[in-house]
Amino acid sequence: MANITFQSPIMQKAKTVYAVAGNTKTILALAEEHKIPIPFECGDGDCGSCLIEVSTLDDKPKMGMALTEKEKARLKELQKITPQEIENAETSDIPPRYRLACQYIARDEDVIVRFSGTPGGS
Ligand code: FES
Repeated sequence: MANITFQSPIMQKAKTVYAVAGNTKTILALAEEHKIPIPFECGDGDCGSCLIEVSTLDDKPKMGMALTEKEKARLKELQKITPQEIENAETSDIPPRYRLACQYIARDEDVIVRFSGTPGGS
């Protein structure tokens, strides 16, 4: 089970939700389910409006996850991923700091998800 804590200047206080192990929902789907107002438009990795900043809470090594080409391209356009982060993601499965909520599937790890409330801002 994973704790996902959402923080944003547009929320009165942080909210933690629990993702059941084996869950395949995206962070955006979980946020919607819990009425957490992450801005989004396309829901499919095309617009970049659902940009979030992700950090892990515990000391465990971060769980690797391949970025889709779509997510990489969008993060590059938004200048929210460096060539080094792309290489780390591709060769060592190290996730970058910024993600798209509609592409990032909740994993069995505790994370903090921050978003600005402005589409494409984080
Ligand atoms: Fe468009 Fe996520 S909602 S990229």
